[in-house]
Amino acid sequence: MKVIESISKMQTEAQALRAEGKRIALVPTMGSLHEGHLSLVGLAKKKADVVVLSIFVNPKQFAPNEDFARYPRDRDRDRKFCKEHGIDIIFAPKDAAMYPETYSTYVDEGELSMVLCGVSRPGHFRGVCTVVAKLFNNVQPHVAVFGQKDAQQVAIIKRMVRDLHFPVQIVVGPTAREEDGLALSSRNVYFTPSQRLEASKIYESLQKAKEMVASGMLQSDRIVGESLHHLTQSLKIRVIYVSLVERGTLKPLRILKPGHSLLAVAVWLDGIRLIDNIEL
Ligand code: PAF
Repeated sequence: MKVIESISKMQTEAQALRAEGKRIALVPTMGSLHEGHLSLVGLAKKKADVVVLSIFVNPKQFAPNEDFARYPRDRDRDRKFCKEHGIDIIFAPKDAAMYPETYSTYVDEGELSMVLCGVSRPGHFRGVCTVVAKLFNNVQPHVAVFGQKDAQQVAIIKRMVRDLHFPVQIVVGPTAREEDGLALSSRNVYFTPSQRLEASKIYESLQKAKEMVASGMLQSDRIVGESLHHLTQSLKIRVIYVSLVERGTLKPLRILKPGHSLLAVAVWLDGIRLIDNIEL
């Protein structure tokens, strides 16, 4: 396994691999790797000859009041994890190389970024699009793999790829979950045992809504209401939004479109921000 920190070395390596006819898959991460990342790596291996996993905690996607400083970082554990799981290259650029002092260029998707998490995290998706565009230029992948847990991020990146003509295929991996349904996330390490218990209510609330749909309900306000009702039973959870939207456009739906809808939720759990979603 190679570990590359220099952007120019990564670009040279990518060009050499391409010249040999190798297909490159990129799994972009912010480190603190877990089983969820592993399932994305599994998909990447199926799609390409060489898997590059990037590790970069991107300061541009955190607002000043967010958890950038305390975001979990464990370089040695991540490197061991990658070695054990057959990653070919870790790309771990330095902050100063990614964003030198005079840095001033951003990628701003202007529609899908305005809804759901974009309302309460202004600038977040601008940071995500900017770093993902940079990673595409650094790693020059044929394929990039993202997780469905970040469904809005996926929709925005697909839009960016389409709009800016990036020759990169976007592959989406299913959300990996704990036994009780909690979506795996690097931020789960923040939980105390009692918070962890409460966190399972998020997936339960999505399941309640799914059961309602299974019994024939198509009305959005009733489906969302069912999920909200479950979440508001918890004294620790503060709901940011529960929304039923069309999967590709993220436009709110009044009536569920079976097979094309996404029920998305974001909450604060004692100051920890969590998101989840299911397709309906
Ligand atoms: O999903 C993430 O971990 C991040 O948003 C990403 C795509 C690695 C960009 O920093």
